[in-house]
Amino acid sequence: MPAVVLVGAQWGDEGKGKATDLLGGEVDYVVRYQGGNNAGHTVVIGDQKYALHLLPTGVLSPDVVPVIGNGVVIDPGVLLSEIDGLQERGISSDRLLISASAHLIMPHHKALDKVTERYLGKARIGTTGRGIGPAYGDKIARMGIRVQDLLDPGILGKKIEIALHEKNQVLTKVYNRRGIDPAKVLDEYLGYAERLKPHIADTSLILNRALDQDKVVLLEGGQGNLLDIDHGTYPFVTSSSPTSGGACVGSGIPPTRLTRVIGILKAYTTRVGSGPFPTELTDEMGEWLRTTGGEYGVTTGRDRRCGWFDAIIARYATRINGVTDFFLTKLDVLSGLERIPVCVAYEVDGARYDEIPMTQTDFHHAKPIYEELPGWQEDITEAKTFDDLPKNAQNYVRTLEELSGAPISAIGVGPGRTQTLSLRPLI
Ligand code: IMP
Repeated sequence: MPAVVLVGAQWGDEGKGKATDLLGGEVDYVVRYQGGNNAGHTVVIGDQKYALHLLPTGVLSPDVVPVIGNGVVIDPGVLLSEIDGLQERGISSDRLLISASAHLIMPHHKALDKVTERYLGKARIGTTGRGIGPAYGDKIARMGIRVQDLLDPGILGKKIEIALHEKNQVLTKVYNRRGIDPAKVLDEYLGYAERLKPHIADTSLILNRALDQDKVVLLEGGQGNLLDIDHGTYPFVTSSSPTSGGACVGSGIPPTRLTRVIGILKAYTTRVGSGPFPTELTDEMGEWLRTTGGEYGVTTGRDRRCGWFDAIIARYATRINGVTDFFLTKLDVLSGLERIPVCVAYEVDGARYDEIPMTQTDFHHAKPIYEELPGWQEDITEAKTFDDLPKNAQNYVRTLEELSGAPISAIGVGPGRTQTLSLRPLI
């Protein structure tokens, strides 16, 4: 009954899409368990590039059942256009299952996400503006509207009215925006309901039964460890739990059934949006990493902030998620450097820290302590095994592994499906 979790070990964008897709051939179900269309996975198959936001990557493999778990917040308009976009390219989403308990992103969530960010000014979080935070806020406040409400037009209408009764006051009186017409929203969402109905299911039941039958379930997190609402760099985080604990809550699969936790770790570090980032490079080296690594957001197109590998963060991901294996991505991006700095500790106000400081204030002041490793000049994108890598690249990987506290079991050396070195099986 293998239930394998994939989590981003940094601030997201580590290349999870490639890992999920790589395992796709071996798995029966791929489940998104949190987040929404704030995420962005790029998968390259042959000369085709697919950018997925809400659909689990499993949708690209014909033998896999893609599942949107209860922990996800769904913008149904976006989901349907993603489904239609794939259909135009000959990829069917007919197998897609959507948890009846997942929450819906409503027009007022999107309106509030944009306007609250604007009001925060310099203190803004840098959200993707997709309504994620307000949708999760309403979920926790027990004011949310769920996928199952699409099946009952009476309830749906009532819930929209109740929500807008309050939200329209906020939009008009606090933020000086136009109110939203409940009748129009109901009409729009009933249209979505028609198309989504065949996909709505009790996904926890289906997944647990699948595990009973020894099927392989892959749980795919969006974002990453440091964007977790509890364990991330709060408040510069997303409003859900990408960490492995969140995989259980967001899918209805109990912790005792998880068999592997794979941390996706980029060979350097990036983050989007505001918040602390000790190894960030704001000079031409950062620009070089951004250009060479193609570090631009899949969802928003924003420049990603770039910096050297931070071993403290990787070790933290091992601790919080119980990482059993790392998938190291984008090693090829570092080819051509003379020396590669790796952050091994922080200095905060004269004191050395080997772990993430307890407070955000200290984390904001953390300065990286680097060890420099020798680089390699060779192109590694054609490497097929670990032994094909230049000695210095092997040494870089081994050092990262030692510092991060879990074995590196796969290495990405290029964006293509075949450009992965497997050191040990991941399932
Ligand atoms: P939200 O998830 O749109 O509320 O944004 C909150 C924070 O999470 C912002 O800093 C975003 O840039 C960041 N974020 C959300 N989704 C992703 C992602 O898929 N990759 C990287 N950062 C993300």
